[in-house]
Amino acid sequence: MNIENCTAIITGGASGLGEATARLFHQLGARVAIFDRDRQRGEAIVAELGTNVRYQEVDVTDHAAVQAGVDEVLAAWSHIHICCNYAGIAPAVKTIGREGPGDAALFAKVININLIGTFNVSSIVAYAMSRNEPLDEDGSRGVIIQTASVAAYEGQIGQAAYSASKGGVVSMTLTMARDLARNGIRVNAIAPGLIHTPMFDAFPQEVYDSLSKQPLFPVRLGRAEEVAGLARHLVENNYINGAVLRMDAGIRMQPR
Ligand SMILES: NC(=O)c1ccc[n+]([C@@H]2O[C@H](COP(=O)([O-])OP(=O)(O)OC[C@H]3O[C@@H](n4cnc5c(N)ncnc54)[C@H](O)[C@@H]3O)[C@@H](O)[C@H]2O)c1
Repeated sequence: MNIENCTAIITGGASGLGEATARLFHQLGARVAIFDRDRQRGEAIVAELGTNVRYQEVDVTDHAAVQAGVDEVLAAWSHIHICCNYAGIAPAVKTIGREGPGDAALFAKVININLIGTFNVSSIVAYAMSRNEPLDEDGSRGVIIQTASVAAYEGQIGQAAYSASKGGVVSMTLTMARDLARNGIRVNAIAPGLIHTPMFDAFPQEVYDSLSKQPLFPVRLGRAEEVAGLARHLVENNYINGAVLRMDAGIRMQPR
């Protein structure tokens, strides 16, 4: 599918991987709607990029807010062709703590944002996409991209909630691709390794240096633009469907 003149919703588009994807798709001629909770960053990006980009304060866990956000995009731009789900959080939740069992409320919060939030957005947007006219000779009506993580396969100590949420995203990808095949909608997921986003700037230098040395080759953190480039390919290559692609320079995460 060609990105130019398409409309894309990008959750988590106010920071990191989502921001890089929003910038790339905008540069390629798409209309971009950023759904994020961070109004300040979202509005700053809109002010910088100018036309064909909008920010909407949407919490992906709030089904009614997602529906309202999608309706607003449809009112402004009539159609939605691309949906990228980047909104996510990664707090540590150990199975047991010093004083007792792990934090069940925090576990539920991570699942709610990373997994249920992804379903909320994908299902609401997919319904809108299903009403599009076919866009190309294959009959494409839309493309959905989810964000998993290598933690879906190799969760580190303290990542019980995060790895469970991303494992859910991995498992849901082929199933959704099957559900939506008859509608001409493809669904894929990116499973990034260690990608340099604002999250990493908060780490102490020794942690940053140690993480930077872990990838197999090239031995460095990934760049948000490299993830955006893969998202672009997943939109443009109609023959990738139901896939989860690791983008991690061959890393296999160790327990800590
Ligand atoms: N950076 C990495 O190394 C890495 C690796 C693997 C997976 N990921 C995944 O990629 C995605 C993006 O990560 P990032 O590094 O760009 O993080 P980030 O913190 O820079 O960006 C995440 C964005 O999501 C938004 N967000 C959080 N909760 C939200 C909610 N409930 N509703 C709407 N927006 C919400 C935040 O405001 C933020 O703008 C996440 O799902 C993360 O788990 C990142």
